[in-house]
Amino acid sequence: MIGSLRNVANSTLPSIKIAPSILAADFAHLADEVARVAQDIDLLHVDCMDGHYVPNLSIGPPVVAALRKATDLYLDCHLMVSDPGSLLDMFAEAGADGITVHVEVGDTESLIRRIRDLGCRVGLTLEPATPLSDLERFLDSIDTLLVMSVKTGFGGQVFIPEVLDKVRSARRIIVERGLCCEIEIDGGIKASNAAMAAAAGVDILVAGTAVFGAVDPAAAAREIRAIAVAALQ
Ligand code: DX5
Ligand code: ZN
Repeated sequence: MIGSLRNVANSTLPSIKIAPSILAADFAHLADEVARVAQDIDLLHVDCMDGHYVPNLSIGPPVVAALRKATDLYLDCHLMVSDPGSLLDMFAEAGADGITVHVEVGDTESLIRRIRDLGCRVGLTLEPATPLSDLERFLDSIDTLLVMSVKTGFGGQVFIPEVLDKVRSARRIIVERGLCCEIEIDGGIKASNAAMAAAAGVDILVAGTAVFGAVDPAAAAREIRAIAVAALQ
């Protein structure tokens, strides 16, 4: 089963996609957590950490395979790992729809090609301290640019507003070159900053704590979307 990239918002309105990060969900009840938000989200963001590229250790292909059985949502796998090349086949086989790798780990051209060859959508990301110029040349060959708005490693950190300059620059380049690359933002996104992210040119908002940490995660996802969409009108 392959997940579908959908947008549950009214298609006549400006579109913003919501991608809750399961890092903030209750891992002991993952399928239930996903089911609670499924009708109100567009993608499921899956944060994979290897305890090496980042100090934290989270989840990997077996959990992606379990999620694949539990939902038809698009599985947006963010690999915070030092050696993504050794894991790509496993993630694709587990049912990842999109695989995002960090430009900081190098070998970017070959990773992009391999992700594409595996039939997945290609994402490229960069840390808050990494300039956009480090990956500008790849924008033509990827589907998603993931702009990190916290230093990777942990959920629940504070949003770094300065990264919105990179979002604005990327949006300009994408429009100028007529590219179809989407811009996703990840880290510390919540109702109070969703509007500025959308206004800067973000297409996809990742939100972990703000969704799964809420008493009503589905309502939290709807609220973030409504605020972001309002900022575009
Ligand atoms: C950070 C992860 C993010 C993060 C999102 O390393 O890539 O996806 O956990 O969670 P919040 O929204 O809690 O910052
Ligand atoms: Zn992430």
